[in-house]
Amino acid sequence: MQVGIFCPIGNNGWLISKSSPQYKPSFELNKEIVQSAEKYGFDFALSMIKLRGFGGETEFWDYNLESFTLMSGLAAVTSRIKIYATAATLVMPPAIVARMATTIDSISNGRFGLNVVTGWQRPEYSQMGLWPGDSYFGKRYQYLSEYVHVLKDLWGTGSSNFKGDFFQMEDCQVKPQPQEKIKIICAGQSDEGLAFSAKYADYNFVFGKGLNTPTAFASINDRLKKQTEKTGRNVSTLALFMVIADETDKAAMQKWRTYNEGADLEAIDWLQDQGAKDKTSGGDTNIRHMASSVSPVNINMGTLVGSYEKVAQMLDEIAEVKGTEGILLTFDDFVKGVADFGQRIQPLMKSRINADTEVPSLMNGLKEEKLA
Ligand SMILES: Cc1cc2nc3c(=O)[nH]c(=O)nc-3n(C[C@H](O)[C@H](O)[C@H](O)COP(=O)(O)O)c2cc1C
Repeated sequence: MQVGIFCPIGNNGWLISKSSPQYKPSFELNKEIVQSAEKYGFDFALSMIKLRGFGGETEFWDYNLESFTLMSGLAAVTSRIKIYATAATLVMPPAIVARMATTIDSISNGRFGLNVVTGWQRPEYSQMGLWPGDSYFGKRYQYLSEYVHVLKDLWGTGSSNFKGDFFQMEDCQVKPQPQEKIKIICAGQSDEGLAFSAKYADYNFVFGKGLNTPTAFASINDRLKKQTEKTGRNVSTLALFMVIADETDKAAMQKWRTYNEGADLEAIDWLQDQGAKDKTSGGDTNIRHMASSVSPVNINMGTLVGSYEKVAQMLDEIAEVKGTEGILLTFDDFVKGVADFGQRIQPLMKSRINADTEVPSLMNGLKEEKLA
């Protein structure tokens, strides 16, 4: 099973709380986390793009770096882990994104992949005068289909003459072409989103669900499978979970309780209001279901809370869900969380027995001493 790290590109990661670790995003922080993830054998690192935060006392996500430029820097300071950036397709023309992707492909020596999002939150775009109107909600995935068509033309042949409803290319050229095929990921949860992935994506991110219910997201894999049966393509899922682990179940659960007690209700209210704006797609969309959410404090993300042993066991259960190729992890404390995962959780996971971990530098030192 693949394991990825969801880089904390926005302040406070994914906890909308006054009592969780409080921090601002920076290159140095993300470098420390991704280099540590690489050392412990994580397979990929992804950052999202978020252009407007939720406010509240914690100013949740009001501070966000930009995805391509962050991942470009991280590509330069890593050597094995795969690097994924997210394109805000509504405001980034495909010919520019194709060229940026080819550039990071060059920096990373073929380790780059792309997450494509349609955008679901109007203020991110209306604040720049670039929201096309609410009718966009109903045609987001048609737009994205054309967008990816252009990307694939450009990466595949170096030029595009695609003519669609949203994009008209005229001998558009992007060279050099990438040295490795650039994998496309989409995070659609609606039927339209899953149909898009079945046609164009290599992987689909799915939201894990609930508290310590690792397999509760299985139905979305089944819905994706229905779509891939129509296209005949093989598209697997990468499930998103937050890990809150400690020496004992009790200690981990106490942290989770503390984060919930400190929930920034003002920021959460804003998110719930935004999530309700798209009335068009009737799918199993996490954001739209915020109102009935069991854990709005972490955006209703599937959450694994417990001792290192218990978390390892739950991660193995996720690996068993049919159609799942990997997990994308967030942590309450990313620096400690990645190290704890590498040292305490991963060694207990059956699904990670073959993880390609580098020997930690301390061990390297010991080995060199012995050899000398
Ligand atoms: C792992 C993951 C990453 C995501 N990254 C972004 C992002 O960077 N920007 C964004 O606007 N939406 C992001 N989303 C939201 C999705 O693109 C998508 O809109 C959402 O899951 C709802 O699905 P739907 O579009 O099919 O309704 C992400 C979702 C997941 C699960």
